[in-house]
Parts: sequence; structure tokens; C-alpha cells
Amino acid sequence: MIPKVRKAVFPAAGLGTRFLPATKAMPKEMLPLVDKPLIQYGIEEAIQSGIHNIVIVTGRGKSAIEDHFDVSFELEHLLELRQKTETLQAVRQISDMIDVAYVRQKEALGLGHAILRAKDLVGPEPFAAVLSDDVIDAPVPCLRQLLDVYDFYGCSVLALMEVPREAISAYGVVAAEPVSHGESGTVFRVHDLVEKPKAEDAPSNLAIIGRYILTPEVFDAIETTPPGRGGEIQLTDGLRHLLRSRPIYGVKFEGKRFDAGDKLGFLQATVEFALKRQDLGGAFRDYLRSLGL
Ligand code: UTP
Repeated sequence: MIPKVRKAVFPAAGLGTRFLPATKAMPKEMLPLVDKPLIQYGIEEAIQSGIHNIVIVTGRGKSAIEDHFDVSFELEHLLELRQKTETLQAVRQISDMIDVAYVRQKEALGLGHAILRAKDLVGPEPFAAVLSDDVIDAPVPCLRQLLDVYDFYGCSVLALMEVPREAISAYGVVAAEPVSHGESGTVFRVHDLVEKPKAEDAPSNLAIIGRYILTPEVFDAIETTPPGRGGEIQLTDGLRHLLRSRPIYGVKFEGKRFDAGDKLGFLQATVEFALKRQDLGGAFRDYLRSLGL
């Protein structure tokens, strides 16, 4: 029987240099998209996909993340006194939402290294990994789309997106062939992976986006992976190792992805998420129109 995915790892220890100075003292995962930090969108996606066991890999600014998912007695008491029932509910929901554990990555030695830090907390079972600066607006949560494919093959599954050639060198890229077109988008069998290739060397236009289902063998694969690009231990290189012994699949998921770790991507996500909000959308649309762009 294919083991169930119960845990999701959220690496949140990167330096976030593309978003400085905002990320000097605060992890980029805490940047608010309308009124919720990026990481909360990712965690809500995990919950909607049926995963409630969360492991967050933290670096600097760890207390902001921990406090966000903790109970805040003082704040709740004040909201209660002021009879702000809806806000109180929203605040309580966050701490009630998940069972969360934290592990520290002392130095930002790469995404592969961050995932490896979660090895003891995850144990010998498959898990999801979510990079919460990739915000995905989808009819079916992206992680759920990946889980559906995992439930069929029982192998690691990566989220894939077509990217224009000129932008491909910012991503991990796969060589892959389509194996089926199902409800969860097109499924690919991955034959090779390369981190941030030059456009002319890219094996395809299919980029790896920050959602993964990983089988526990990935930990051994990362452990034997030497530092790659930028001296960091890259998850893509670890997956390449894994590919020698296990098949890997990819899903060209349905949905719209925003790179919220990048200033322009973050602004685009802010505008689109605000426009979709029932309480803000109308007024915000009127405001944008009034700019007469
Ligand atoms: P990025 O590739 O976006 O790197 O990380 P970064 O350092 O966070 O940001 P920039 O590029 O300097 O602006 C992708 C994900 O991996 C995590 C990040 O927190 C983010 O969720 N990460 C990256 C770690 O947890 N540790 C690392 O050493 C590197």
C-alpha cells in the first residue's frame, strides 16, 4: 500500500535578498499579502489538501513565525473585550489550524540543506515541501493536485510550469515526457533535472515550482549531494541523485503562480488577491480605475 502523506515541510530560512531591506530582520515568508503572511497561504493550502502536520524550517526572524502560529492571549483578550468577534475568530483560527514543529537552519546553505534539517521530524515517511514565496491560486489546491498523482504512483512528484525561454535560467528545469493527461493537469515522467541552466542548455521549458511530494529516500540523496550552484546544497541536485534509484514524476498543475519572493511578483499577487476579496475588491477596483492608467 502507498503510504499516506501526513506532513508538510516549509523551508523559511532563506536570506530573501531579492526583497531587501524588508527581509533584513523578518523572513520573507512573513510578508503580508493583503492581510495574511505568505506562509499562511501555504499552510492553508496544505490543510485544504488534507495535511495538518507542519514542520517549519526557520532561520533569522524565527520568533515572528512562531508568534504568528502561537496563541496570543493578550490580543485575544483585548479583541474579546472590544467585541471584535470576526477578527477574534480569524486570529484564533491560525493557532487552532495546525500542529506545528520548528527546526532551525543556522546558516542558509541552500534549499536542499533546509529540507535535510527536517529529516528527524519527518522520519521515514513521504512528505510535502512547500516554498511559501510561490503563491498559487488554483481551483484545486496545487498540493492536492500533486498528492493525487502521488497516490497513484507512490513516487516523488514535482510541480511544473511552462516558463518562457528567456526566464528559464532562474529555475530548476526538468527533462520529461508526458505520461497522462488527467484531472490534475498533465503528468510527466522526469528523466533529468538541472538547476538554473543557461537558456541554451535548458532541457525543456518546464520549470520546477515550489511544491513537492517527496519520498523519504530524498534525505539520503541530499546527504550525498555536494554543494552546487552558489556553494549551496541544491534540492534539484539531490533530486537528480534520487532519480538514479527512484522514478520521479511531475505535474503541470492547473492554477496561477506568483513569485512573491520577487518585488514585481509580490505586487502582482497583492493586486490580484485584493481584487478577489469580497470585502475589498470593489473599492480597490474603483481605486485602480481612478488611476486612469
Ligand atoms: P530562494 O531561492 O527564494 O532563496 O529560496 P532566498 O534566499 O529565500 O531568497 P533570495 O533569492 O535571496 O531573494 C526558496 C525557498 O527556500 C528557502 C527559502 O526560505 C524559500 O522558502 N530556503 C532557501 C531555506 O530555507 N534555506 C536556504 O538556505 C535557502
